[in-house]
Amino acid sequence: MNLKDSIHTDHLPKHIAIIMDGNGRWAKQKGLLRSIGHENGTKSVRETVEASAELGIENLTLYAFSTENWNRPKLEVQTLMKLLVSSLKKEIKTLQKNDIRLAAIGCLDALPKKAHTELLEVIDKTKHNKRMCLTLALSYGSREEILNTVKEISLKVKNNIISAEKIDESVINEHLYTRNLPDVDLLIRTSGEQRISNFLLWQIAYAELYFTQVLWPDFTKQNLYEAIIEYQKRERRFGKTSEQLH
Ligand code: IPE
Ligand code: IPE
Ligand code: MG
Repeated sequence: MNLKDSIHTDHLPKHIAIIMDGNGRWAKQKGLLRSIGHENGTKSVRETVEASAELGIENLTLYAFSTENWNRPKLEVQTLMKLLVSSLKKEIKTLQKNDIRLAAIGCLDALPKKAHTELLEVIDKTKHNKRMCLTLALSYGSREEILNTVKEISLKVKNNIISAEKIDESVINEHLYTRNLPDVDLLIRTSGEQRISNFLLWQIAYAELYFTQVLWPDFTKQNLYEAIIEYQKRERRFGKTSEQLH
């Protein structure tokens, strides 16, 4: 039986987030340059995006570049930014065909001008698409996001737009980059690392975590199905007892 048929379509995660890791090691294992690893990683992006849309996942968020990734060698950063531009140019067709809306979170102003312009263009061209929201985390850092949120809310308190007593979780949610997204249900990380690396710290409070040894360029639709099947086996208790849920 196809793995896909084992997925219960009435119990899908509403929001899947993926830390796409292992491009460098994939290349190294094959005696290739890291840039080739990144290039092959884009195939996995396409597979995952298509598979998610086909299944009916409403929100997919991909960690493509962290604030800390700016500290990589200049040439690698340049390669990644070039790859971003070429992928956006190439994949706009896939997005339109599959009715997918593109969004981005992170400090987008830090991106090179060309990447920034291309990104905004694809976001604009796909803004009416309804089937799935694909969010790219670019120059994204969760601590930076939370810091910005604190600053914005503080300013509003100072200017009497909001009172300090009124600050609750929803106020914070509304000020995060992810203000239009539901909390993450399923967080996947490839490459065997078991850490969060400054990704969506607030938003994963009750996410199910799924770690796989598969390196990102080897990640296929089948691997996504496996993660969702595992997710569907878990009991999400949100602090309650198992008995309360049944
Ligand atoms: C993920 O792969 C891509 C980015 C972080 C941009 P890596 O480049 O981190 O690959 P490894 O971890 O070195 O194998
Ligand atoms: C996390 O991967 C960032 C992305 C996948 C874009 P890293 O490879 O940068 O994370 P660390 O440094 O191993 O924690
Ligand atoms: Mg890595």
